[in-house]
Amino acid sequence: MSVNTLAPSWLSVPDDANALPASVWSQNAVRSTSGELEIAGVTATALAEQFGTPVYVVDEADVTARARSIRESFEREFALVGSSAKVYYAGKAFLSTEVARWVTDAGLNIDVASGGELAVALAAGVDPARLGLHGNNKSLAEIDRAVSVGIGAIVIDSVVEIERVAEAASRHGRIQPVRLRINSGVHASTHEYLATAREDQKFGIPLADAAAVVAQIRSHGALEFLGLHSHIGSQIFESDGFAEAARRLFEVHAELLKDGPVPELNLGGGFGIAYTSVDHALAVPEIARRFADIVATGAAALGIPVPVIAVEPGRAVIGPSTTTIYTVGTIKAVLVDGVAIRTYVSVDGGMSDNIRPALYGADYSARIVSRGSAADPVLVRVAGKHCESGDILVHAEYLPGDVHPGDLLGIPATGAYGWAMASNYNYLARPPVVAVINGAARLIVRGETEADLLSRDVGVPRTDVSA
Ligand code: LLP
Repeated sequence: MSVNTLAPSWLSVPDDANALPASVWSQNAVRSTSGELEIAGVTATALAEQFGTPVYVVDEADVTARARSIRESFEREFALVGSSAKVYYAGKAFLSTEVARWVTDAGLNIDVASGGELAVALAAGVDPARLGLHGNNKSLAEIDRAVSVGIGAIVIDSVVEIERVAEAASRHGRIQPVRLRINSGVHASTHEYLATAREDQKFGIPLADAAAVVAQIRSHGALEFLGLHSHIGSQIFESDGFAEAARRLFEVHAELLKDGPVPELNLGGGFGIAYTSVDHALAVPEIARRFADIVATGAAALGIPVPVIAVEPGRAVIGPSTTTIYTVGTIKAVLVDGVAIRTYVSVDGGMSDNIRPALYGADYSARIVSRGSAADPVLVRVAGKHCESGDILVHAEYLPGDVHPGDLLGIPATGAYGWAMASNYNYLARPPVVAVINGAARLIVRGETEADLLSRDVGVPRTDVSA
């Protein structure tokens, strides 16, 4: 088959448009003998029949295996240099009570970024001492709740927050452990909206101010300074940015030791994952090894102890675990510029269940998952059902040319920032989240119903209200 001139240069015609590249699909995703997708022993058709579509399907064993392997990699590498590591799961990527239990059972802590995320972690029964609270504008109520439940750490993001946290800690008679978020100035190579450590952005305080701000923190008896924190961005593939941020922070870390203890150094999250077969994610053990090298070399040169390292990946833990299954509704072959045909495959979800392609231009891949097909591949664009042309789920992919209405379509690697950023645009109900493991599927977050969609509109006549 010849290359479609509308295809982006990175996308090649696949030898097999049914293949499930292991770098992109969850660990327990395979084609069954009949050709359909099976995740942890449950077929796509069975999932669609039981839960409807769209549905987010989480490969539970994939999540726990990744969580464990990230923790073990960091623990191993830092043990080798005479220290230890703490891994937080960044719950913003996707948090539910089940997920909170999976990751904490795998030995991770959880990083929450709002009162709502804190509430989910607490509802899951997670020990508050294993939680950290982030946010560039935490409300007084969020700070108060976090301090009152005994949260393990609060990441102070601006000078004004020092007094707010200290006041809450005094009021509750607690000594609150805190980290200080630094803007390291490192420019991580990723989409502009995802890079959080450039100078011109809202997070953290400049590296140059760190010493004075830490002195202010240390002046409060109700605060315990844990260390510096840096998060340079998200979906990062090169290790250079992490290495540079670690080096810059470590210099200041060493300075701060002259005036008191600095037990930890938190280097954030942001480890990239593969969304298409041309993405090459850094192996987590390699990231861990590089972090350990930098910190250990720096410590030896300065004659100081290697600090406990903390990291907080979200996407790398949950992203690859999830496949969203949709039903194909309509298909349109569109002649573009009179030269080539782009086939629009429209499915029953869209930008309300995955905003990332529309928001960041993120690329994803797709497969027909209800059957295998030997048809020649055609270039498709997977579109949603929303009322705007930017409602795209997969910009470009080759699917078997016999793709037709009623086929189930799977989009892999939708576990991070998919459900978490879902909306009710066009009054679409947010889909359910289903966990599969050992041949069984169970609901972990139910899908919304029409009643849910109407429930907060106070103008809807209520026939069921007796008073
Ligand atoms: N720590 C902090 C302080 C963060 O702000 C973030 C992500 C993380 C850790 C986890 O980053 P991860 O390991 O998941 O990359 N909505 C965007 C991503 C925004 C990330 C925000 N902060 C997306 O869909 O790509």
